[in-house]
Amino acid sequence: MSKSHFGLIGLGVMGENLVLNAERNGFSSVVYNRTYSKTEEFLNARGAGKNIQGATDLKDFVDKLERPRRILMMVKAGPAVDAVVDQISPYLEEGDLLIDGGNSDYQDTERRVQQLESKSFGFIGMGVSGGAKGALEGPSMMPGGTKSSYDAIESLVSKMAAQVEDGPCVTYIGPGGSGHLVKTVHNGIEYGIEQILAEAYDLMKRVKGMSGVQMADVLAQWNATEELSSYLVEITEVCLRTKDPDDGADLVEKIMDQAGQKGTGLWTVVTALQMGAPVPTIYASLNGRVMSSIKQQRVHAEGILKGPAVIDFDLGQPGDAMAPLMDAVVLSCVASYAQGMELLRIASNDLDYSLHMPSIAQIWKGGCIIRSRLLKRIQDAFNSDPQLENLMIDPWFAEQVNRRLPGLAKVVAGAAEAGIPVPCFSSTLDYINSYRTGRLPQNLVQAMRDCFGSHTYKRVDQDGSFHTEWLN
Ligand code: 6PG
Repeated sequence: MSKSHFGLIGLGVMGENLVLNAERNGFSSVVYNRTYSKTEEFLNARGAGKNIQGATDLKDFVDKLERPRRILMMVKAGPAVDAVVDQISPYLEEGDLLIDGGNSDYQDTERRVQQLESKSFGFIGMGVSGGAKGALEGPSMMPGGTKSSYDAIESLVSKMAAQVEDGPCVTYIGPGGSGHLVKTVHNGIEYGIEQILAEAYDLMKRVKGMSGVQMADVLAQWNATEELSSYLVEITEVCLRTKDPDDGADLVEKIMDQAGQKGTGLWTVVTALQMGAPVPTIYASLNGRVMSSIKQQRVHAEGILKGPAVIDFDLGQPGDAMAPLMDAVVLSCVASYAQGMELLRIASNDLDYSLHMPSIAQIWKGGCIIRSRLLKRIQDAFNSDPQLENLMIDPWFAEQVNRRLPGLAKVVAGAAEAGIPVPCFSSTLDYINSYRTGRLPQNLVQAMRDCFGSHTYKRVDQDGSFHTEWLN
């Protein structure tokens, strides 16, 4: 058999689907999995009749690839990536290229790029989004590393990626770990939107007593609007409509209310705090998952800590797409994107990544989990001002904020009175109100810091650094 164009290590569902995608696009492939039985199983089933060969060990795998070798690793982020790199490195030759397609920490990717390039190999850290279906049919791909390494995979990834009206959903992101950083922030936004939709569901269910189908009908209306048309709204509608086959009840009501996480949302928040980027909506979504995980404590506390009885308040009518609730959802989604983009802008400066914001919006328009019609507006906003500090001050988004802020405030106030937690909605309201306030009360914080610790302060009316003996 002739040498293959492309190699894949790790036959999990994402790996299988990505290699089938590559093969469908004309790239003959070779696959390797730690357990050969898994490789055989794949070749006899989904890989049968395809231009895909199996390898029994890593030497065999490397021998079956044309040079320079292009090898995609789809293994669990963390030590497993280092282990594969160490195991395969002795067989690689100058110019060969490893691509890590998992959700790796961008700092690990920085290290690996340096480590591999010092041996004259290439290393690309590539975020891949879209779940199993996206991997097969066309994901959004976020590759980072040296430009020459990207050039070697461009023909491959631009065919494999989802296609939108202005091209494939892949671009060269930037150097080092930039591809994985962008994927991490993508996931932070993903956490935000998931929690926002969960809060909307909770209010419709608990305040209005709506059924799964009634809520799904509202989601369908939202999905037909420019502001909310998106993959996550679309699948939320499906989740809300789905019945338990055993008794025909809404299936979501049978699901344990504890959300897991694999790390990327946490990394988004930690990175943002380290870099001084405000991401309160995204942080609230992460904390929502953490609170959900302490189920036993919550059940215990429910009998001790008394809140108000849930009262009815204005969430709009199904006939008008639950207008104030829609305002809260739209602005919270806008805030999630705005915070993610601002974090990327700040990180790009801190890390010298030279991220091109319009291109990031462009490659998120298709294939990925946060794809939405709003991303076209985000792309336009950054195209008209590449230095845009915050999405919310772009004219189109500013009009949305100004028009929808009263609706968001009404929903947060009503939820507060009804004792229903809405962490993303309330964080978004505070975020917007803070962002549009020219003078915040941190002057008093500065006074306290100077009072007890002589930390000094700046004045609004004079240059320099000042200290006052406050307690004399
Ligand atoms: C994607 C997703 C995916 C992620 C899952 C799970 O873009 O396809 O972001 O990469 O791994 O959504 O994330 P959590 O388990 O942390 O929710």
